[in-house]
Amino acid sequence: SRYQIAVIIGSLRKDSFNRKLANAIVKLAPPEFSFKQVQIGDLPLYNQDDDGNQAESVKRLKDEISAAQGLLFVTPEYNRSIPGVLKNAIDHASRPHGQNVWAGKPAGILGASTGAVGTALVQQHLRNVLAHLDVPTLGQPEAFIQVRDGLFDEVGNIGEGSRHFLQNWMDHYVAWVKKIAA
Ligand code: FNR
Repeated sequence: SRYQIAVIIGSLRKDSFNRKLANAIVKLAPPEFSFKQVQIGDLPLYNQDDDGNQAESVKRLKDEISAAQGLLFVTPEYNRSIPGVLKNAIDHASRPHGQNVWAGKPAGILGASTGAVGTALVQQHLRNVLAHLDVPTLGQPEAFIQVRDGLFDEVGNIGEGSRHFLQNWMDHYVAWVKKIAA
């Protein structure tokens, strides 16, 4: 595909709603886009002492981000902020100083939560972090998704009630990546 997108999911839970959302929404993208979920669950806890000797899993993450033309973050909200596993991955791939592989990659942000704020707060925190890392993020439309019955259909596609909304989100994301990606 012309556009490879690295998908970063902020939950390690086997039945994660956010992983389900990521799996479903990529089906709404055109064929010139391909999506690959990057693994973050096997990364060590970030330790600056290891900057000169990054673990294989960290090198893999950085290679996958470097190879991508765009980023898609799909994350739950933990205690009104970024889950530690996601922040850990972001920190790893931003280092050593001067070797931040996130920089310049257009990013979309999505999140689903069981709570009524639908990840609004984590998304704002994530935007701050990504701004510092020189990652341009799609501003509109925003998508704060509350998990309810019918969000997904029987086969895991986006359910009827949210399909139009999320197709519109994807259409804007696709246009945004095409505009920004080198
Ligand atoms: C949560 N949850 C949650 N929900 C929310 O809307 N705002 C929040 O601040 C929090 N905080 C929070 C902290 C922790 C440690 C956990 C485990 C959960 C609930 C959360 O939305 C719910 O567990 C989702 O199912 C998590 O997403 P995944 O794992 O299904 O993708």
